[in-house]
Amino acid sequence: MEKIVRISNIQDHIGETVQIHGWIHLKREHGKHMLFLVVRDGTGFIQVVLRDDVKGYDEVFKSYREASLIITGTVSKDERSPYGYEIRAESAKVVSPSQPTIEEEIQPDSSVDILLDKRHLVIRGEKASAMLRYTDKLLRYIREFCVERGLTEVIPPILTKAACEGGATLFPVKYFDDTAYLTQSSQLYMEAVLPAVGDVYCIQKSFRMERHRTRRHLLEYYHFEPELGFIDFEDLIRFAEDNIIYIVKRTLEDDYKILELFEVHDLEVPRSSFKRMTYAEAIEFFNSKGIDIDPGMDIEESKERMLVDHFGEPVFLIEFPAKQKAFYFKRKESDDRLALAMDLLVPTVGEIIGGGMREDDYDTIIKRLNEIGANLEDYRWYTDFRKYGTVPHGGYGLGIERTVEWILRLEHIRDATLFPRFINRLLP
Ligand code: 4AD
Repeated sequence: MEKIVRISNIQDHIGETVQIHGWIHLKREHGKHMLFLVVRDGTGFIQVVLRDDVKGYDEVFKSYREASLIITGTVSKDERSPYGYEIRAESAKVVSPSQPTIEEEIQPDSSVDILLDKRHLVIRGEKASAMLRYTDKLLRYIREFCVERGLTEVIPPILTKAACEGGATLFPVKYFDDTAYLTQSSQLYMEAVLPAVGDVYCIQKSFRMERHRTRRHLLEYYHFEPELGFIDFEDLIRFAEDNIIYIVKRTLEDDYKILELFEVHDLEVPRSSFKRMTYAEAIEFFNSKGIDIDPGMDIEESKERMLVDHFGEPVFLIEFPAKQKAFYFKRKESDDRLALAMDLLVPTVGEIIGGGMREDDYDTIIKRLNEIGANLEDYRWYTDFRKYGTVPHGGYGLGIERTVEWILRLEHIRDATLFPRFINRLLP
């Protein structure tokens, strides 16, 4: 019985007879007696040569693109093949022959909506499947970093009564006779767990009922949220910097092939001490460019991108007007009107991290919750941290899809997501 090998490991099997399990990615006839296939197994692509005297040739000949099959053959290095290696088939077994309609499913000029309808087929493509594999790597790098820094991963609930980021984008869900919400962020839970396990994080879905369509907004996204205790604002910013540097370093070390496929030639490990700009300095920057922004107003997405593209490197925006920010932000000691908030902007995408220091005083957090009209009983599990052993603490959220969009230089967040959710899109 031949060894079953994954294409990603094929270089370790030169000269051996192996078996691969996969799908026909491309098929063409070469003369009258030979087929050239590109076979995909999810871990990679390889060229397969099949002569007509090989067992199973007729079955493969009659199959279509995306047919599933088992190939047994000998591996050789082949400089001419775009995949570097070739398998000379000794036998082939078609598991399912696919259908000729596969050729009509997606066309080079298919519209964005059709491509989204057929996302389950689009993801079989070289770039989309590489994006999925990169996302898997990114999650590993984040976990490696957290292990290195001694954080514990926990699993918070998705159904909640807490509005972490304000009422406007909450997703209500019928909860027997009550209403629950899909979580907008797991931050409040991370704060509540901190005294139990120390520095903590989760990687969990967050939901936002976003009505606007942009290149970086999803209704459902994957969210890495670390929360750290006994720290100050400077410590938090440094941790976020190290986090980004770690991710980029590991990507450059391990994922050069994926970067090549996406033609990303300019990814560099950012120098430590990222550029920082206060909100007030950002407003000045815009004014100097002749762009008026009402002081105190949110900096809209396109402006944010313009600012970071101008510098061409990651930029922390810090110290925002407190009234722009959620109830939980700690204020600056010397100026109560400013929140100790930070957003990390990166070129081409804009914000990939949002976070800051949390208000850790019991009376103040109760006052803030009253100001937003919250039912204090619903937040008791949250405010008790301030009652029983409060500490200065802070954290942030990093959007996984936006980070993939940035690293792979994708044009739209839909290309950084398995099955994106937008307004009017709940399929597939
Ligand atoms: O800035 P945000 O809203 O911060 C929070 O939710 C904090 N409670 C997180 C925390 O401190 N633990 O979101 C954080 C990040 C953003 O920087 C962005 O990367 C991503 O989450 N994000 C989205 N990604 C895709 N689609 C959306 N609609 C997103 N909204 C936020």
